[in-house]
Amino acid sequence: MSEFSGNKSFKISNQKVTESCPSNIALIKYWGKYENQIPANPSISYTLDMCKTNTQMEFLPDEKFSVQTFLSGKEEPKFAEKIEKYFKNIQEYLPWILNGKYIIKTENTFPHSSGIASSASGFGAIAKCLMRLDDTFTGCNNEDFALKKASFLARLGSGSACRSIYDGLVVWGETEEVTGSSDFFAVKYPNDDVDEIFRSFNDWVLLIHEGEKSVSSTVGHGLMNTNPYAERRFQEAHENFSKIKTILRNGDLKSFIKLVEHEALTLHAMMMISDPAFILMKTGTLAVINKIWDFRKETDLPLFFTLDAGANVHLLFPANENEDLIQEFIIKELLQHTQNNGVVKDVMKF
Ligand code: DP6
Repeated sequence: MSEFSGNKSFKISNQKVTESCPSNIALIKYWGKYENQIPANPSISYTLDMCKTNTQMEFLPDEKFSVQTFLSGKEEPKFAEKIEKYFKNIQEYLPWILNGKYIIKTENTFPHSSGIASSASGFGAIAKCLMRLDDTFTGCNNEDFALKKASFLARLGSGSACRSIYDGLVVWGETEEVTGSSDFFAVKYPNDDVDEIFRSFNDWVLLIHEGEKSVSSTVGHGLMNTNPYAERRFQEAHENFSKIKTILRNGDLKSFIKLVEHEALTLHAMMMISDPAFILMKTGTLAVINKIWDFRKETDLPLFFTLDAGANVHLLFPANENEDLIQEFIIKELLQHTQNNGVVKDVMKF
């Protein structure tokens, strides 16, 4: 029996819980997975501060199992179907889960059409709500375990969501570089091993292309199964873990920039050499990348980028390192490549 098998519940009554969960941005990317949401390689991310999902979950135990969902006040039956499927899938870990009706009201603090992944914060918030209910029903009030199990459950909804449960730098996927790391849940990267420079960072997300992506992450992960470069990529992610460990400890910003940008470009290279091939970057994405490289060459200031599975560019720069000059450049030179001057200004949460 796994440590996550459900406890026997002793008291079931109407409950309403609310939880909030931030989004995260990966530095070493998760791209490729096996059965049951097992990642093909370890990943590490920064948890954001302002981009969050706030979720209220009402549980009515006397009713037949059903899920009703509202996103910013609007009913979303498609999302409800997805959550119903998810709840059925995790019944083994929460034996009471199908014994009632759910009304889930959720809202994102970032614009809905922004293309910022809401699945990480969304499933993170739902998993945290479920653990709050579980605590009430089982009388188990072990905060550390509840977070660990929330991460385990969030992973089964969306892989990257398991990292959103914790603040700061978070690792998911077993690597010998991080003690306690696991394929089943995320763990916090040890703060003591992180130089000051990496503890206070900006992430400004340029909204290059708002709206639906042409290929979903789930389909993209699947295409790694037949990608001839996949094994090499998974191996490289492991190698990059040992590199990033030294970088984080030594405060080596130059090597950090090189590694993080390489990871982002590798992710998109994998998409381009998939069969069928796909490209999620847009003209604006490339224009911004080139301008960032020119800017770095001219000024030597630490502005760099990462990408998730979409066209938007995450602009990363440390706090207190000529921040004003960097922000001025972003506004003057990069904002023009967004749709509707869209930028979400966030910071890393530690
Ligand atoms: C490119 O977690 O969205 O953002 O597990 O299928 O829900 P599913 O995929 P998802 O994939 C995220 C991929 C990524 C990289 C990352 O966050 O590590």
